[in-house]
Amino acid sequence: MIERNIKGGTGVLIKYKRNWEVKSSEITSEKMFKTRRKFLRAALSSAIAIGPSPIFGATQGKTNIVSTQSNVGKKYLANNDEPTDYQSITQYNNFYEFGTGKRDPAENASKFKTRPWAVQISGACEKPGTYGVEDLINFDQLEERIYRFRCVETWSMVVPWVGIPLSKIIDRVSPTSHAKYVSFETLHDPKQMPGQREPVLNWPYKEGLRIDEAVHPLTLLTVGLYGALLPNQNGAPLRIIIPWKYGFKSIKSIVRIHFQADMPVTSWSESNSNEYGFYSNVNPDVSHPRWSQTKERRIGEFFKRPTLLFNGYGELVADLYQGMNLERWY
Ligand code: MTE
Repeated sequence: MIERNIKGGTGVLIKYKRNWEVKSSEITSEKMFKTRRKFLRAALSSAIAIGPSPIFGATQGKTNIVSTQSNVGKKYLANNDEPTDYQSITQYNNFYEFGTGKRDPAENASKFKTRPWAVQISGACEKPGTYGVEDLINFDQLEERIYRFRCVETWSMVVPWVGIPLSKIIDRVSPTSHAKYVSFETLHDPKQMPGQREPVLNWPYKEGLRIDEAVHPLTLLTVGLYGALLPNQNGAPLRIIIPWKYGFKSIKSIVRIHFQADMPVTSWSESNSNEYGFYSNVNPDVSHPRWSQTKERRIGEFFKRPTLLFNGYGELVADLYQGMNLERWY
């Protein structure tokens, strides 16, 4: 499956860095990926210094991955949880611009044009402007981050994302002291995005973060998964991933990043503020008004598992919310 998807890629070479103690390898398939993961995990747990790992075969198709030494710390990983299979990650999606059914995005986004792509950066920063994806992101600096990903609808996955910390882009444009928040917008193009012809949300999809959340090292500006470019249904050509927040904060196909003093309006809180707050940190103790958040169903597993506060990343992010009442600021 992954090979077929990779063959359908756009011909862009992704280079990315990882910082395992092991020098990295080329990924060609999910099976290879998992084999290598087991190998790396064994190496890490026994803390043996080892040399470069073998190259696992030739990369299939056009969207190759050339990996070098890693930059990614172990702390960014999803414990030892196995990544969810590629097919589920790319066929079970929420991307309402392409329909509200889970299979709609994969079906309806195949012709979505993601190059050329420009991102407008505006508001309280010293270097506003319109940046092409390739100008914005140094593809030599990509990292792989394997994160737990928890949807507000109570399913979860483990996804090997590829991207760069959002902080690198934010640093580049030098926000001013007025930049307390960052807002993001998805492309608005009803011709290409059939879901936008329906009033499901007040389009374009909008999200926002407090500036300290946006520059947190876990927040990833993401261009790929499983070592290949993002499939359109997962938010190509670039989206953000904030692994301690419910999935809807992780806005897809971004065309605008805006720095501002006030808390931004976000699509879901605008459409239903009783159900969706600005923060949306994963929190088993704060129920959604229509369902409990205490448990989640990991895609591919039968039994539900308990949901963890901050999706299990509390050690790394709880400081951001010190002194805040998380029931009030849900
Ligand atoms: N971004 C846009 N533009 N439109 C959307 O409908 N859905 C959100 C988020 N980002 C969404 C979006 C929701 S509800 C989830 S759970 C995740 O994307 C799903 O990401 P995935 O399809 O890659 O798993």
